[in-house]
Amino acid sequence: MSERPIGLLDSGIGGLTVLKEARKLLPNESFIYIGDNARNPYGPRSAEEIRRYTLELVQFLMDRQVKMVVIACNTATAVVLDELKGSLPIPVLGVILSGSMEAVRHTKTKEVGLLATQSTVDSSYYNQKMSEMDKSVRVTSLACPEFVDLVETNQYKSEEAEAIVQAKLSPLKEKNVDALILGCTHFPLLSPFIKKEMGQKVRLIDSGALTAEQIGQVLEENQMAAAKNSPVKTEIYTTGDAQLFRAIAGEWMEDDELEVNKINVEGLKLDAE
Ligand code: DGL
Repeated sequence: MSERPIGLLDSGIGGLTVLKEARKLLPNESFIYIGDNARNPYGPRSAEEIRRYTLELVQFLMDRQVKMVVIACNTATAVVLDELKGSLPIPVLGVILSGSMEAVRHTKTKEVGLLATQSTVDSSYYNQKMSEMDKSVRVTSLACPEFVDLVETNQYKSEEAEAIVQAKLSPLKEKNVDALILGCTHFPLLSPFIKKEMGQKVRLIDSGALTAEQIGQVLEENQMAAAKNSPVKTEIYTTGDAQLFRAIAGEWMEDDELEVNKINVEGLKLDAE
């Protein structure tokens, strides 16, 4: 058993979709979250940059004695998860495997849609994982960098957001997809509009709840879960604007008391490569 916190990271706001579900499912656990809003978005960046930034965030969490690292960002998962699995002394989880499994399990038409960042689409990580599970699944991928921006600027509920989602998804509607992966942790905030556009027959796959379940399993397997009724705490850090972060996070997490701290990018350093 361990009362040490679970660490989560993202390029910004998106990983809160995982944190929200994890807090619900694992009420005895404490969490430390870091969002790299100052350097958001990661999606258009090179793999080398994404790798370096992610390793800095991991180091930040390791310095705070987390017992597990959750890469709550698809873009970072695709680039650096496999490397981290081989090098970190604690368990590390990404967000891509659980969504891939769920999509393959759900699809009857064998047509799966993927909404993600440009980097995740280019990596073909989802395609690889799903084809390892079922070769007959076809994936139609759409890079949606505009969606990340709508969330980061707190405009995800606006009429403009609805119009952008509508325009963006129209090519997908011609396909016979029955499962649509929200392959960027920012996208569940836009799911009311995505759902409206795609209709009832398309199942939206959000890795938040699925990853939270996986965190629970890893805690059990490693006998790391906190004891019942442990004192819990959620600490949030952002490299960006703490006030804006608090406004978006408070509403999304339905928690007015969230503590959001600012950390300068210059304060994020790697010990050694
Ligand atoms: N939330 C991130 C993801 O899941 C990335 C958004 C971005 O920084 O481009 O891919």
